[in-house]
Amino acid sequence: MDIFDLLEQEHRGIIALIEKLEKTAQPEQRVVLVRELELLVVPHARAEQGSMYPFLKRRDKMLGEVVEAEAEHELAEHLLHDLSTCDPASEIWNDKFHALKDHLVQHFKLEETSLFVAARKILDTNETTMLSEQLPRAKEGFLKGMR
Ligand SMILES: [Fe+2]
Ligand SMILES: [Fe+2]
Repeated sequence: MDIFDLLEQEHRGIIALIEKLEKTAQPEQRVVLVRELELLVVPHARAEQGSMYPFLKRRDKMLGEVVEAEAEHELAEHLLHDLSTCDPASEIWNDKFHALKDHLVQHFKLEETSLFVAARKILDTNETTMLSEQLPRAKEGFLKGMR
């Protein structure tokens, strides 16, 4: 499994958790799942930024899109934080949850239909292997920092 398969598999895992959260009305359970979501999304995004994105940034053609994707990561973390500090029994929680869901769905689409497609062409076999090995370690490091 290479870095692209790993990242896309993580996207699927994040979406599955979002769908679970969407069906959860119980406030205590919402809190638990939002924290779980944070622990999936934040290390995922930071590891992308520390591994694949720098390779893409070196290509002038890709720079704009990578900068946009980095801004989307920042917004995702902001929306997650906002949701985690919101009363899970309130009506506004639903609005915040849907804002986060829509944002992540749209971001994953940008990555899978554009950034990853470009990166598959840009990275050679050695670089892909190196990044595929680095990714789990990078994620683990970010995860430790969050606990
Ligand atoms: Fe991302
Ligand atoms: Fe991603």
